[in-house]
Amino acid sequence: MSGLPPGSELETATDRTPPSTVVIFGASGDLTQRKLAPALHSLACAGRLSPETSILGIGRSDITNDAFRARLFEGVQAYARLKPDPRLCNLWSQFETRFSYIRMPNLDTAGFAGLTERLRSERSVDGQGNVLFYLAVPPAAASAILRSLGHAGLAKSDRGFRRIVFEKPFGSDLSSARELNQAAHAVFDETQIFRIDHYLGKETVQNILALRFANAIFEPLWNRDYVDHVQITVAESIGVEHRAAYYDRAGVLRDIVQNHLLQLLTLVAMEPPGSASAKALRDEKAKVLDAVRSIDGKDFVLGQYAGYRDQPNVAAGSSTPTYAAVRLLIDNWRWRDVPFYLRSGKRLAEKKTEIRLQFKDVPHRLFSEERGPAPNRLSLQIQPDEGVHLRFEAKVPGSGMETHPVDMVYHYEDDFGATGLPDAYERLLLDALTGDPSLFIRSDEIELAWGLIDPLLRASLSPSPYSVGSWGPEDAGRLFDAPGRVWLND
Ligand code: BG6
Repeated sequence: MSGLPPGSELETATDRTPPSTVVIFGASGDLTQRKLAPALHSLACAGRLSPETSILGIGRSDITNDAFRARLFEGVQAYARLKPDPRLCNLWSQFETRFSYIRMPNLDTAGFAGLTERLRSERSVDGQGNVLFYLAVPPAAASAILRSLGHAGLAKSDRGFRRIVFEKPFGSDLSSARELNQAAHAVFDETQIFRIDHYLGKETVQNILALRFANAIFEPLWNRDYVDHVQITVAESIGVEHRAAYYDRAGVLRDIVQNHLLQLLTLVAMEPPGSASAKALRDEKAKVLDAVRSIDGKDFVLGQYAGYRDQPNVAAGSSTPTYAAVRLLIDNWRWRDVPFYLRSGKRLAEKKTEIRLQFKDVPHRLFSEERGPAPNRLSLQIQPDEGVHLRFEAKVPGSGMETHPVDMVYHYEDDFGATGLPDAYERLLLDALTGDPSLFIRSDEIELAWGLIDPLLRASLSPSPYSVGSWGPEDAGRLFDAPGRVWLND
């Protein structure tokens, strides 16, 4: 079933999920309303979700099926890429019947016995017994659910697949991530496990691979001979808002640096994989993390935005960082001595995720004595303004030989239209249901990433204050150690 007019571009999509039951733990939380239900709806509209998909939401709240569906409808209307629309995607009245809610306040044996019964009856509907468990719960609850799934015998099936998706954060430091990996491996094989980092579901993030490995012109320059340094920025203008209870325990290092920033780093820095297989891709990403030199105390700066401590649910005198900037070095042939500057913060000047490769200066300047910033820079705009910009010098018209930096610009929207970019969760749900782990994080990757961040979590560094709407604390500039290197904020 698709809610789109026959023959429309999305209607012709070929990948389609097999009949399955999606069991969402933590279904009364925000993620299901804002991300999962809207993504499933858009997949259904695009004809990519099997009509024989049912979604069981499990949560603590005491709500009826109707209330659950009404809540999801609000989310779908507000956040789905393909929204319910009588002309474009008119399937809500059928689609909502696929969702049901099971209240399980204690995740106890009786609750799981009820779930097993329910899955048996679902199985008779789709005839295959494919089940995707989706853990949209904190890591501590994840371990308990894993044990119960194991005891109830729900992790294995001789007919159909059993897979499990872990929302981030996967652990809260290296030792808890290791424990969670062990708990997961006690019940599921690694091939059944899908650890989410929603950044990998973003089209523009996947485009890093296309840009590097589907073109011949960039890769020859993509190394220490030509690249002066790399800056990776995940800047947000929003603050912690209603998530302070979680955020004050996590902070930016756990919330963004360990996952989104390090994942972006792996894609920019990895060697070309031998094939496009999940194994080849994830092997190369893991090698990057393994080659990152341990981060020294002088190589990072933490910050906290003014007013953070006044937010509800933030501990008085909290020293949780809402900003981090880190200087990394990758000890391998390609990147030796090329610094990678990673930064992320809340309440910064604007929302912007981008990767900038600053190329080295020309060996000899013919047209100007002035030593300004080196002229060439490649910017991969992940969001907003999704696209690619290449900066180079051009001659200013007129007499003389004055030059000025100009940009060669590509925007996704221009070529693929405004709704051409699926939401990250659409792609990730599609891949989890069709069984492609390429865009999910393997157990070794997750532990390597935590291993890099652990020393920063343990360092007793107080965050420096910064003003709301700025680019972070002043002292973040001290990470630059060569003339001409500054944070590129323009
Ligand atoms: C989440 C973090 O993983 O990513 C949030 O928990 C953050 O704190 C969000 O706001 C940013 O995602 P995006 O897709 O808006 O860049």
